[in-house]
Amino acid sequence: MNSAPLAFMDSGVGGLTILKPAMLRLPSESTVFFGDEAHLPYGEKQPQQVIDYALAIGRFFATRHAKMMIIACNTASALALPTLQTQLPFPVLGVVEPGSQTAVQASSNHKIGVIATRATVTSHAYRDAIHRLNPTAEVVEVACPTFIPLVEKGQYSGQAVRDLIAAGLQPLQGSGIDTLVLGCTHFPIIRDLIQAELGPGVTLVDPGAATIEQATQWLTEHDQLAEDRTPSHDYYTSRDPAHFQRVGSEWLKRKVEAQLVTPNQL
Ligand code: SIN
Repeated sequence: MNSAPLAFMDSGVGGLTILKPAMLRLPSESTVFFGDEAHLPYGEKQPQQVIDYALAIGRFFATRHAKMMIIACNTASALALPTLQTQLPFPVLGVVEPGSQTAVQASSNHKIGVIATRATVTSHAYRDAIHRLNPTAEVVEVACPTFIPLVEKGQYSGQAVRDLIAAGLQPLQGSGIDTLVLGCTHFPIIRDLIQAELGPGVTLVDPGAATIEQATQWLTEHDQLAEDRTPSHDYYTSRDPAHFQRVGSEWLKRKVEAQLVTPNQL
């Protein structure tokens, strides 16, 4: 048993799409969430910058006595996971391996699409992880940076939004994929629009859900689950607590009080 918190990081509020299923799956666990809104979007940053941001947040979690860190951000998972795993004093999970595993299991024709930020696509982290599991799989990676501002601004409907999503997914049309990895924390929020564009023949994979299953398995096997009790949930943002609180309360359907920790306080 271990009642120390599970720590989650993301480049912004998108990572709350992973925190929410974690709270449902592991209701006794306390959590700490850090949304690095001051540096959003990670997907347009240089790899070393993303590593530095993620490491600073990991060190902050160490001061909060976290028992495990989950990198909810796909870009940070793709670029920073090995560094964090060697430099932090707790286990660190990323979303790329669990998401790839789920995609390989879900695909019947072994043609898998990945939509993600530019940095994640350039890293080929998903392609490489999928090929480690199935060397013959065909992987089509497409950067969809224009989807992220839609979610940040809360624009989930309307013809202009549908047109933008259609344009972003255009490279996948005719590719023959039967499975698509939603390789950015923001994309599960516009999942219905993506599904409508690609049709029911494409299975959408949310790496966050798979990551929570992997975390649950690790905590169970290592006897690190929290005892049955009322957990605490702490939220930190590096930019705008009012924005974080508004979006967080809406998505999590609970009161969210966020504290500001600026980059130079990390
Ligand atoms: C970003 O920070 O650019 C998006 C988050 C992600 O890659 O999951």
